[in-house]
Amino acid sequence: MEIISDKAAMAARSEAVRLEGKTIAFVPTMGYLHEGHLSLLKKGRSLCDYLVLSIFVNPTQFGPNEDLDAYPRDEERDQKVAREAGVDAIFMPNNEMMYGPNYQTYVALEKLPYHLCGLSRPVHFRGVATVVTKLFNIVRPHTAIFGEKDFQQLAVIRQMVKDLDFGIEIIGGPTVREPDGLAMSSRNAYLTPEQRKDAAALYKSLNQAQEMVSAGEKSAAAILEKASETILAVPGAEIDYAKLCDPATLDDVEAIAGPALMALAVKIGATRLIDNKVLEP
Ligand code: PAJ
Repeated sequence: MEIISDKAAMAARSEAVRLEGKTIAFVPTMGYLHEGHLSLLKKGRSLCDYLVLSIFVNPTQFGPNEDLDAYPRDEERDQKVAREAGVDAIFMPNNEMMYGPNYQTYVALEKLPYHLCGLSRPVHFRGVATVVTKLFNIVRPHTAIFGEKDFQQLAVIRQMVKDLDFGIEIIGGPTVREPDGLAMSSRNAYLTPEQRKDAAALYKSLNQAQEMVSAGEKSAAAILEKASETILAVPGAEIDYAKLCDPATLDDVEAIAGPALMALAVKIGATRLIDNKVLEP
């Protein structure tokens, strides 16, 4: 496994792999790897000849009062985990390598970011779309894999790839969960043991919603009210949003008529957690 921090060296490596007629799969991450990331690497490993993992805590997708400086890091462990997962190259640039002096170009979408997380994190998807564009241009993968845990992010990437003709196949991977249902996340490391137990309320509320829909409930308001009740039973929980929306446009739905995305962002203490589930009538 190669560890590459220079973007020209990464581009040259990918070019050499392509010249050998091999295909490249790519999993972009911010590190502190967990089973969710590993499931994407496994998928990538099975799809292509050469597997690239990037680890870069991207400053442009964090707002001024967010957790950029606190974001958990463990390079040594990540490298060990990546080697075991069969990664061929880790690309881990630093901030200067990605955003040089006088940096001024951003990729912004006009509709998808104006929903869900984009409303409480106004610069977030501009930062994600920009860094993923840059990573795609450096790594030049045939296929890239993203988690459905970040449903809106996956939608943004798919739209961007389509709109800007990247010619990269985007694959979604299902959310990997802890035994009690909590979606795995690098940010779970912020939770105290008590909060960690309470955090299972998010998954519980998604399942309750599916049960209601399966029993014939159509009203988004009724489903979301039940979800709020379950989540707010947790001491210190604060709902950023709890929404039912169209999985394609992310527009709100009022009555369930087909598959509907239930999306949650909840603060437990200072930690913001997100989760989602597509509810099937
Ligand atoms: P990060 O949060 O490290 O996540 C990297 C990838 O892992 C994303 O595609 C995310 O959706 C996926 N992932 C996270 N938790 C998961 C889980 N429990 N199950 C399945 N997949 C999961 O998302 C980012 O980094 C960044 O925004 C990035 C795309 C790298 C751009 O900076």
